[in-house]
Amino acid sequence: MAKTVVSIQNLTKSYQTQRALKQINLNIQEGEVFGIIGMSGAGKTTLMRCLTALERPTHGKVRICNEEITTLSGASLRCARKKIGMIFQHFNLFSSRTVLENIVYPIEIEGASREKREARARELLDLVGLTAKERHYPAELSGGEKQRVAIARALINKPAVLLCDEATSSLDPRTTHSILTLLSELNERLGLTILLITHEMEVIKQICTHVAVLEHGEIVEQGGVEDLFAKPKHPTTQRFLQNITHELPKGLKKENSIMLRLSFTKGTAQQPIISRLLRQHAVDVNILLGGIDVLRTETIGNLVVELTGEAKERADAWSFLESQGVLCDELV
Ligand SMILES: Nc1ncnc2c1ncn2[C@@H]1O[C@H](COP(=O)(O)OP(=O)(O)OP(=O)(O)O)[C@@H](O)[C@H]1O
Ligand SMILES: [Mg+2]
Repeated sequence: MAKTVVSIQNLTKSYQTQRALKQINLNIQEGEVFGIIGMSGAGKTTLMRCLTALERPTHGKVRICNEEITTLSGASLRCARKKIGMIFQHFNLFSSRTVLENIVYPIEIEGASREKREARARELLDLVGLTAKERHYPAELSGGEKQRVAIARALINKPAVLLCDEATSSLDPRTTHSILTLLSELNERLGLTILLITHEMEVIKQICTHVAVLEHGEIVEQGGVEDLFAKPKHPTTQRFLQNITHELPKGLKKENSIMLRLSFTKGTAQQPIISRLLRQHAVDVNILLGGIDVLRTETIGNLVVELTGEAKERADAWSFLESQGVLCDELV
């Protein structure tokens, strides 16, 4: 059975007058890339800070590898934090240290010899593709290179989980893509468990296996990425996926028609389902919108269609689509 790396139970965090997190429950298993998506002010950073015990929760528990981090302090907290690697939006590198010196920083006070520490740092530099830059200073690096250094530094203690707080939010789309590709490779090659927070669905799409949607400090929906993309339930999730759900212009819907959003996944994408529907049912189909979402684990096709016909024919057509494995959601 998969090992639970991060377990959050009934986590609530209140500041003087405000509740920043309400009753959060999350479990992250080893090897998952778990995304938490939320708008500004949703509570993402507060959640990250509770995970590393930089903030104490008002209620609830956080366990990292079965150890309750919320009750630790001093040396035992420092030891538990080694299981957590972190990277940030603004990289947080030391400007007066070279790349190599930045990477060895977390293990500098440990017993290992300098040679050993630097050998480990060079392995990581190789892993993140920056071997040629070990003697450079952060000011001499691009944003993407700085984030690679930060990733190498975050991995030096062989953490059980890598937390990424808006790690690509300062990068352009191409560099974002290359950093997310690197994180996917680390997940695949090392089995690294990753928890990332973001306000961008594109990030979730590219690398996550699981996702939770955070709004006003609450998780409004969570699950596997394919399910969430194919059938988003909560209006906030739907808003994040606007490119596929799309709000329909008012007045478009006619008396004898329904609007459906259809999602086609692996099993259904290659079947001529729409032409069978038209042959077997007395409805008309008007395609209003279409698109494809390439997820890390699956490709999902989406169509917004208008079905016109008698009520019974429309209902039968809808049932037919579902019987073929197409996910249908009525847009109203
Ligand atoms: N130290 C604090 N004292 C009081 N209120 C705080 C504190 N830190 C955060 N908050 C409040 O908690 C809520 C959540 O803030 P948080 O920084 O976690 O949001 P976020 O999702 O990370 O937003 P962003 O995307 O803008 O970084 C906000 O309303 C914020 O004002
Ligand atoms: Mg934040």
